[in-house]
Amino acid sequence: MESLTVELGARSYPILIGDGLLEAIGGHVAPLLKRPRTMIVTDTHVADHYLRRVGVALGNEGVSFSSFVLEPGEATKSWAGLARLTEWLIGEGVERGDHVIALGGGVIGDLVGFACSIVKRGCNFIQVPTTLLAQVDSSVGGKTAINVPAGKNLIGAFHQPALVVIDPTTLATLPRRELGAGYAEVVKYGLIDDADFFAWCEANGAALLAGDSAARAYAIAHSVAAKARIVAADERETQDIRALLNLGHSFGHALEAETGYSDRLLHGEAVAAGMVLAHQFSAANGLCPVGDAERVRAHLASVDLPHSLASAGVNSDGATLAAHMAHDKKVRGGKLPLILTRGIGQSFVTEDYGLDAVAAFLDS
Ligand code: NAD
Ligand code: GLY
Repeated sequence: MESLTVELGARSYPILIGDGLLEAIGGHVAPLLKRPRTMIVTDTHVADHYLRRVGVALGNEGVSFSSFVLEPGEATKSWAGLARLTEWLIGEGVERGDHVIALGGGVIGDLVGFACSIVKRGCNFIQVPTTLLAQVDSSVGGKTAINVPAGKNLIGAFHQPALVVIDPTTLATLPRRELGAGYAEVVKYGLIDDADFFAWCEANGAALLAGDSAARAYAIAHSVAAKARIVAADERETQDIRALLNLGHSFGHALEAETGYSDRLLHGEAVAAGMVLAHQFSAANGLCPVGDAERVRAHLASVDLPHSLASAGVNSDGATLAAHMAHDKKVRGGKLPLILTRGIGQSFVTEDYGLDAVAAFLDS
C-alpha cells in the first residue's frame, strides 16, 4: 500500500492506494470514527459490485453502517439529488462528528462532499473513488458541487475529505469508455508540468488501458501525488496554480455544452479534445512547437480518445463554440483565463487571448 498526504495544515488528510484496499477499509476508517457507525452513499452500478465488500470490511472492525443507493449518472448531481441525500442523512441521525463514505465515481464524490459540507453545517466524509477519473482527480482536493440548469458545478463548496481510499482493482469492472475518459486526466498531469510523465504515458498508456495493473498503479500514484502537491499549494485556486488543472477544460467545456453534456461526449473525452485544441491554439500563436501539439494529438488518437472537433462529434462554427466558453464559470472581470502552453509540460495561465481569436482558430 502507498500512502501520501495532502498537506493542508489542520485539514491535511491521507490518500491510501493499494490493490485490495476495499477489503481492508474497516481498519482505516474505524480509527477516525467518534462512534462505530457510518453511512455509505453510492450508485446502483457501484453498489452491485462493491457495497457488500465494503460493508463486510466495516463489520469486521465493529463498524455498523446504513447505505443510500442513488441512480448512476450526472443527473443525480442535482438539487433533487442533494435534497434526497441530505434528508436521508438527517433521517439517519447524522452527527457533525460522523464520517459519510462516498463510494463511487466523481458524481457520487462531488454530491456527497457537497451534502457533507452543509448538513448540520458540516460533517466529515471519506472518498472511496471507483472510476479512474475519480481516483486520479476528483476524489482529491475538496471541490464539491451539483449541477443546475444554468450550468455544471455552479453550486458547490470547498470541503476536504478526511481520507481517500483508492483500490485500483475496482477498475476491472469499469467500462472501457469510462476508463479512457479518466485516462485523459492522467495525461493532463504530464502536459501541465511533467514532460517525463507524458513520455511515460506515450509508452505505457495502451497497456494501462488494456488492464496492466503495474501501469495503473504507477499512473494513479503519480497523478494523485501531482494533484496533492497542486492542491496544497493553491487550495482555493487563487494563485494560478490549481487553475492549471483546467488545462483543456475551457475548450472541452465548449464541446460538452455543444453536445448537451450528454453521453455523446464524456467529460474526460471533452478534456482530451480540449487539450489537443489548447496545444494547437498555442502552436498557432507561436507559443508552442507544432511538433509538441502533434505529439499530444497523436497519443490521444492512439488510445481512441477524441483529438479534434470532428472526432469529438462537433461540427459547429468557432463563434458558437467560443460563445459557450464565454459562459465558463472561470471568467473573471469579463475575461476568460486560458491555459495555454510553451510545450509539453510547460502550461501557463493567460488572459492575453480574446474569444474572437479563439473563434477564428476554431474555424481555421
Ligand atoms: P461517474 O461518477 O458518473 O461514473 C461513471 C460511470 O461509471 C457511472 O455509470 C458509474 O455508476 C460507473 N462506475 C463507477 N465506478 C465503477 C466501477 N468500478 N465499475 C463499474 N462501473 C462503475 O463519472 P466520473 O467520470 O467518475 O465523474 C464525473 C464527475 O466528476 C462529473 O460530475 C465531474 O464534474 C466531476 N469531476 C469533479 C472533479 C473535482 O475536482 N471535484 C474533477 C473532475 C470531474
Ligand atoms: N479538477 C480540477 C480541480 O480539482 O481543481
